[in-house]
Amino acid sequence: MRARLTTVFACQSCGAVSPKWLGRCPDCGEWNSYVEETVSERAVPAAAFAAPIAEAPLATDARLPTGLPGLDRVLGGGLVPGAVVLLGGEPGIGKSTLLLQVGRGVAARAGEVLYATGEESPGQVRLRGERLAVRESRLRVMAETDVARIVAEAEACSPVLVIVDSIQAVREPSLTSSAGTVSQVRESASVLQRYAKVRGVPVILIGHVTKDGNLAGPKSLEHLVDAVISIEGEKSSSRRILRGTKNRFGSVDELALYEMTGEGLAEIPNASAALLAERRAGLPGSAVTAAREGTRSLLVEIQALVGPSAAGSPRRVGIGLDGARLALLLAVLEGAGLPLASREVFASCTGGLEVTEPGADLAIVAALVSSARGRPLPEGSVFFGEVGLLGEIRRVPAAASRVKEAAALGFTRVFLPAGNAGDAAGFPDLRIEPIDRVADFLREICPD
Ligand code: TYD
Ligand code: MG
Repeated sequence: MRARLTTVFACQSCGAVSPKWLGRCPDCGEWNSYVEETVSERAVPAAAFAAPIAEAPLATDARLPTGLPGLDRVLGGGLVPGAVVLLGGEPGIGKSTLLLQVGRGVAARAGEVLYATGEESPGQVRLRGERLAVRESRLRVMAETDVARIVAEAEACSPVLVIVDSIQAVREPSLTSSAGTVSQVRESASVLQRYAKVRGVPVILIGHVTKDGNLAGPKSLEHLVDAVISIEGEKSSSRRILRGTKNRFGSVDELALYEMTGEGLAEIPNASAALLAERRAGLPGSAVTAAREGTRSLLVEIQALVGPSAAGSPRRVGIGLDGARLALLLAVLEGAGLPLASREVFASCTGGLEVTEPGADLAIVAALVSSARGRPLPEGSVFFGEVGLLGEIRRVPAAASRVKEAAALGFTRVFLPAGNAGDAAGFPDLRIEPIDRVADFLREICPD
């Protein structure tokens, strides 16, 4: 197979290509985003490689643990052989730190790990490694930007894991465009992906995220890889959230909470307690819900602020919540005798989390009512349940696990769908409040 080079114009925003320069991308609408790039076109090989299905080598589903249980959970149970995982995050958030810890964890358990960096010198990686007390000799560091040499090194040392820091820093030298352009990112990723698939070795790519939260480089990079994990957090806080946004081998609902310490990222063992740490009990507009995140139940605070509207149509803003569900809940409250149509409504999920499952409905309703009436909700309460269009409270999955989490964190009262009351039977210390209709709920928690 010989590669032929051709010139195309590629949109640096979405990766669309065109044979001629365009002022505005017809795909994503971005202006002045087209840059001339060379791409290699592979000649079509003559031989056929298809085989009867029974003769295909059986894919093993043995997963490789990373040494970080939270990350393993987000991955769906560890790294899958031959999978390409993209770790995205803003500069300085802790991507290199996390993957050095992964390198250590895998090297200690399974074998050689190749950590190729195009961002730093081996000395800088070592400096970070000393902070983290990483001394595994099976963790090999290579400063290299040429993707072909990274693959050659991997072929030579047969690692059990390859880490590339970052996909924007490496390039395929046969293409003239510079590192970080659409064609370079895409070509480098596909070279690494081919290596991963042929050798059955997992490859983790670091990807920088731009200010607006998108992975720098083409969107198509997300299609090339098997899983996309993001690491997020506020610069001012040491808390980091790991979550999957795409996963061919697992669910994308899992998340893990970490804290950046002096010795790297440490998983926060009690996520619910950390999420509620800043909560001030006894204030109107605050409600705690037990939400499902993947296979776990987490307690999070929902806040609402209902206020008088300025001129024009009042605003309805949901942060970390589903905007359509918020609108639905406001309409149901209207029907249940709490008119909010002329008032401004803000509702948010605190802690940088996103809760879009209907199980949070009852807590959103509780927070809205509490704010509108200026009265705090009953002390020590947790609320969960789906609200239907007719004002009925519908049962939700995993109710027992939610109740258990509430009990574990010292809450004393749980408002839940009447249909889930049976799931709360094993908790004699809790006051269980089964609710059937929104109108009854309003009377119960916040009498007028
Ligand atoms: P880094 O992993 O280099 O971020 P990224 O690769 O995403 O750009 O680390 C970012 C920050 O973390 C850096 O400002 C220093 C800090 N840090 C700690 O607080 N503790 C540590 O143990 C390490 C290694 C870094
Ligand atoms: Mg880095």
